[in-house]
Amino acid sequence: MATQANTLDQNKPSHSFLSIFTPCSAQQRQQNFESYWEFSQQHAGEIYEQDRDLEHKRNKREQFEADQVRSRKPLPNLDAFYRNNVELVDNPKTLDQKTLLMTCIYKFARHELNGIRGAWDTVPAVDKTTDLKDKISRVHLAEEFCHVRFFTEMLHTFHLENIEFPPLGPIETKVYEIFPHCPEALMSPPAFVTELMGMNFYIQLDEKICEILDDEPEARDRLRELLHEIMVDECAHIGQRRNFMGPIGIWFSKALIKPIFKMFTRDIPEIAILFDVDRLINDAHNFNYSTISPRIIERSWIPSYCQ
Ligand SMILES: [Fe+2]
Ligand SMILES: [Fe+2]
Repeated sequence: MATQANTLDQNKPSHSFLSIFTPCSAQQRQQNFESYWEFSQQHAGEIYEQDRDLEHKRNKREQFEADQVRSRKPLPNLDAFYRNNVELVDNPKTLDQKTLLMTCIYKFARHELNGIRGAWDTVPAVDKTTDLKDKISRVHLAEEFCHVRFFTEMLHTFHLENIEFPPLGPIETKVYEIFPHCPEALMSPPAFVTELMGMNFYIQLDEKICEILDDEPEARDRLRELLHEIMVDECAHIGQRRNFMGPIGIWFSKALIKPIFKMFTRDIPEIAILFDVDRLINDAHNFNYSTISPRIIERSWIPSYCQ
């Protein structure tokens, strides 16, 4: 029987898009910010500022909670997860693939949460600003908080109930603190590259979930449903963050792909163990949406100059 990953592959987009690095004019970028904001409001629904949450994401979570799925074949040793989730201390060769997959998901979510915590306080609430880019960024951040909740539900699916996300080390914490205060021209290329990296990471994560959790169809499918909810947003974030940049920003972004990916792989060693890092980097350089399932694209947003 074909796995869902194979089914996805057979469903590659019927029409092709252009490279994410396709040049565009300032006027096109302005039009695309407006079109993104229109999409974003419909996609997210109301923003709950206090809870850093969004209406449609909350509804989706409630649906998942009402129809809870829990793994029938728990991890061989839950302690191994809690020993290695913050820092990989065991020899990875002694760890099974499911545990490595879960520690990898945990570490990615922890990075995501720590990256957005500081940024949230630097962007005004949607109803307190008239600046379109600020409004877009605020909802974008709320979406990222929702992603951490979806990741947490993935871990709960595997009976990992004690999930907390402590701050990162002092240097990383400082970097994440300073980063949102940088001028837009300086912040946009790394912000874009981390979105690009995230998407390519999720594409391979989806494949690994199919491969490693093949003996658990119910839990596997639930993890994929949760992941696809994240991927729809991330697909839109790539174009949105690209739209912040002119030619210099685009040039700088290309130069940043390899160092940022390598840095991330150092921080999350599970990525190099489970994933194909060269493919992650190549796919980022060549990104044109052709690696994303049409089922995700049809619910997402792509800049007009990439279509
Ligand atoms: Fe995210
Ligand atoms: Fe994102």
